Amino acid sequence: MALLAFFVALLPALVVTQDLGVPLSWREFSNSRLLAERISIAQDAINTILPQLDMSDASFNGIGYWQAGNVFSAMANFDHLAGSTTYETQVVNGITTAFNLYADFDQFGSTMMRCGGQQRHTMAIEHTETKASCPWLLQLGTIVVSVADASSGSQPNKDFTIAGTCFGESMAGGVFWRPTSDDTTINSITTGLYMTLSAFLAEITGDTTYTNAAILSAQWIENLQINAGGIVLDTVDGASCVRSPDTWLFTYNSGKYLEGLSVLKDVTGNTAWTTLMTDIAAAAIKTSAWEGTNGIITEGASPTENNDDVGFKAVFIRGLDEVSVRSSDNSALQILIHSYNDVQYNALLELAENGSSYSSSWPGPPQAFTTWGQLAALDVMVTALNTNSP
Ligand SMILES: *[C@@H]1O[C@H](CO)[C@@H](O)[C@H](O)[C@H]1NC(C)=O
Repeated sequence: MALLAFFVALLPALVVTQDLGVPLSWREFSNSRLLAERISIAQDAINTILPQLDMSDASFNGIGYWQAGNVFSAMANFDHLAGSTTYETQVVNGITTAFNLYADFDQFGSTMMRCGGQQRHTMAIEHTETKASCPWLLQLGTIVVSVADASSGSQPNKDFTIAGTCFGESMAGGVFWRPTSDDTTINSITTGLYMTLSAFLAEITGDTTYTNAAILSAQWIENLQINAGGIVLDTVDGASCVRSPDTWLFTYNSGKYLEGLSVLKDVTGNTAWTTLMTDIAAAAIKTSAWEGTNGIITEGASPTENNDDVGFKAVFIRGLDEVSVRSSDNSALQILIHSYNDVQYNALLELAENGSSYSSSWPGPPQAFTTWGQLAALDVMVTALNTNSP
């Protein structure tokens, strides 16, 4: 109880109370497709990327390994939300293959990331699968800055003096992007993934070790990585405190943090996390950083070649879905989220669609199939099963 009070006291109030109203400038923010049709659209979208799956190494032709993780994630979420087992075998076999080939599902071995990445690398078998089978993410625990590390200026797996505070805030809870001993980068996506997994594990096991880990990492992002507009920033150097440019605003940083906060507020019952989640959700959904006044996300549009950024928006949408699921006490927020997803859904279906394939440029125009464009669309299709009714 005393510990909880301590953490509550640390939470500063966010500057503005957000307006949860749906902007009337958004393009087509509703849809009337019934569930059976939405299931069919999502399934067709998944089936359109599946010919690219190489079961020998669980990769998808045309996209990278972390992006492949996101495809498996969308497949699992489809089954979860459609109440089916359509993709169970492929998901289980794919993940098993990847683990057999690479320790910790880490294609790059010890020289690369675990489940996070600065700009270019994130591995994200998340959400449903996180709950069941993401124990390798726990290895991130070895590169988290503990309270003791922040005090001593050293971290057991790093060979440099770490910054105990940056910008007047403790670096405790920050997670290094890479396990290599000389890599100094601490970023929001790695920390957000670790915090989200910790919160899910806390929820499932009731073990406060996970709860406290989630809280510490959530505080690191809250104290250091949210800009004046309520958007999650990218990186802070864990040695020099140099932060990534103000312009490095990527959907997935806010999206993954939102997903974790939605679980954390349920685990802790602390409404300060609910408020923070709600404020960041409203800010991220309405920001001009990655969309115009019509609301269609423009980040990562890349018609001619793969670009890791195309998949960031899928991580964002997936995080919003979790927020929606866990916000039955806030209908305005749920309406805002389903309206936002409908904007993306309608854009994909009307502006970016070619048969059952979709451009990575959600405002269009349509083009021939690309694996990365298809990947980016899947979470919108799957989320539409959930956030719309009936
Ligand atoms: C739609 O995809 C087909 C290939 O499947 C391609 O030939 C055609 O040009 C695409 N249409 C547009 C408008 O790009």
